[in-house]
Amino acid sequence: MTNLAGWIFRVTWLLAAGAAVAGEDAIELKAGAGRELVQANCVACHSLDYIQMNSPFLDRKGWEGSVNKMIKVMGAPITEADAKGIADYLSANYGK
Ligand code: HEC
Repeated sequence: MTNLAGWIFRVTWLLAAGAAVAGEDAIELKAGAGRELVQANCVACHSLDYIQMNSPFLDRKGWEGSVNKMIKVMGAPITEADAKGIADYLSANYGK
């Protein structure tokens, strides 16, 4: 491989890897009141696709339980007021 071919190979590889990482971050939640709360509080530990994956299963009670579990079991630092706003948003936009 010439030096130029090696360089092109590496740049192509980096671009592909970058695109894969960007794809991971590109999850767009539906627009609605409270979306910023979710984006600010729910990405610290895992991707937002956890929300999309669970939307067929969780109703309002389910989402409240899930947010509470993130706070009580996983240790998410979310205030009670924010937790309510998050549950409102999730049950309105991703509720069963
Ligand atoms: C402190 C870290 C942390 C934060 C912040 C966090 N989560 Fe999680 N979450 C986790 C962990 C760890 C799991 C995997 C738990 C498991 O495997 O049972 C998880 C799993 C989930 C699941 C999959 C179902 C389940 O109960 O295991 C959902 C849905 C979820 N989180 C939603 C949220 C939402 C909504 C928020 C914002 C309110 C949030 N998470 C914030 C740590 C966190």
